[in-house]
Amino acid sequence: MASFKSSLLYILLTALLAASSLAVANAGNFNQDFQITWGDGRAKILNNGELLTLSLDKASGSGFQSKNEYLFGKIDMQLKLVPGNSAGTVTAYYLSSKGSTWDEIDFEFLGNLSGDPYILHTNVFSQGKGNREQQFYLWFDPTADFHNYTIHWNPTEIVWYVDSLPIRVFRNYENQGIAYPNKQGMRVYSSLWNADNWGGFH
Ligand SMILES: *[C@@H]1O[C@H](CO)[C@@H](O)[C@H](O)[C@H]1NC(C)=O
Ligand SMILES: *[C@@H]1O[C@H](CO)[C@@H](O)[C@H](O)[C@H]1NC(C)=O
Repeated sequence: MASFKSSLLYILLTALLAASSLAVANAGNFNQDFQITWGDGRAKILNNGELLTLSLDKASGSGFQSKNEYLFGKIDMQLKLVPGNSAGTVTAYYLSSKGSTWDEIDFEFLGNLSGDPYILHTNVFSQGKGNREQQFYLWFDPTADFHNYTIHWNPTEIVWYVDSLPIRVFRNYENQGIAYPNKQGMRVYSSLWNADNWGGFH
């Protein structure tokens, strides 16, 4: 279903700030902080590390990940999503640790037919347990221009922002027995793929 003519995602990294005492805050540079992990040439780092593009065609999507793990931090990514018929495509931008009891904080954009809106899907996993999806419609066309998508993760709360507007907060209620991601370092991942082949999302 996805249109493969112009399936290109543009990403600008404006800030990757690690809150842990060892890591260094920086303005964000794809060459320095990230590596392309899959897609056989479909992911490209451009403009001296300022811009990254992911592309998708019939054969494959593409993706990248941060070189380092972070325990708390804030990441701002400016994304311009695939325009036109993007039905079946999933653009994911998330933090995740490894292993069977992993932690994860997600931004996912589910593509749609031309003219129909993308769905912004958020989720958080603590120690392998998810089922905390919340979905949003955006109040702008995410394919027309770059918009600022932020994950802010600290010991007390996780906040998802879109253009500096907090759209979701997940607070630490560990004292009430609800697991909170605060023990495992996470990497930043992003990928663009076609979910049609495995029968849709989830
Ligand atoms: C696609 O758009 C339709 C019509 O607005 C909407 O009902 C549907 O939830 C959207 N699907 C996705 C995956 O974004
Ligand atoms: C993106 O949003 C975050 C969170 O509100 C803000 O701190 C940051 O300055 C914004 N960046 C840009 C380039 O607008």
